[in-house]
Amino acid sequence: SFEQSLRPQTLNQYIGQDKVKENLAVFIEAAKLRQETLDHVLLYGPPGLGKTTLAAIISNEMGVHLRTTSGPAIERPGDLAAILTALEPGDVLFIDEIHRLPRAIEEVLYPAMEDFCLDIVIGKGPTARSVRLDLPPFTLVGATTRAGSLSAPLRDRFGVLSRLEYYKEKDLKEIVVRTAELLETEIDYNAAVEIARRSRGTPRIANRLLKRVRDFAQVRGNGSIQESLASEALELMQVDRLGLDHIDHKLLKGIIEKFRGGPVGLETIAATIGEEAHTIEDVYEPYLLQIGFLQRTPRGRIATPAVYQHFHMEVPAE
Ligand code: ADE
Repeated sequence: SFEQSLRPQTLNQYIGQDKVKENLAVFIEAAKLRQETLDHVLLYGPPGLGKTTLAAIISNEMGVHLRTTSGPAIERPGDLAAILTALEPGDVLFIDEIHRLPRAIEEVLYPAMEDFCLDIVIGKGPTARSVRLDLPPFTLVGATTRAGSLSAPLRDRFGVLSRLEYYKEKDLKEIVVRTAELLETEIDYNAAVEIARRSRGTPRIANRLLKRVRDFAQVRGNGSIQESLASEALELMQVDRLGLDHIDHKLLKGIIEKFRGGPVGLETIAATIGEEAHTIEDVYEPYLLQIGFLQRTPRGRIATPAVYQHFHMEVPAE
């Protein structure tokens, strides 16, 4: 699809995450030199940083197929068995949200990862028997926003653990410029910087904002993206100078206005602003923690003085 063609296809085209990229390049080259299958890879870190893209790049660089599924999509052992037995030698199996795999499935996965075999039970009751199926060697690429909620035995079966970090502004700017080129849209250097600055260190957000700003440029301007137009469009979309959006605002203002800045429990915040606790924890919190707007304490979340400053509010006395 066009959406996929915007994504980098090789490690060389992939911008940012230099350490992850350098290491993967070595492991991929070594596996190819030895004509072996690449060891299993676990990619972890906040959403939108390119885990799926990297899985596709790994399969592309290894010259094998990519099969994609996700933790919640695999409900029964048979679902996993169907996927595994359809693999060809060397293929990459990408399991997104691998922390959401049911435990019973994990247990089918262990021997598959370790010995490339599958123990399946056929039939029920006294006539049930277990058969061992050989699988083609494959590379499992797992992705998760929470390495901590993976069970230890599953985590231990990955040979490569790569943590993705929020992107530097200069890398995001480069990504914006690259995507604009692919979209055949002219963009000013400063407009690209402005979009990068408001993207919360996240390429998925940068590319989404770029597309929306491009809409404004096409309808309200001459099609090319200048800094002033970019800033105006971003304001209209309620993306503030730090890239915080409507939901970040609701979250932070909720803590300040309803709980005097906290501490307040995650579930309580979630109920107050009408968002899922999981979404807050996986999508919104990590960046707010990173920029020092939130603190996690045993008694709950606290809004830091930086939040009050950002909203031009007075920091309450102790
Ligand atoms: N598009 C999204 N993420 C990217 C990245 N890391 N490098 C290049 N283009 C991208």
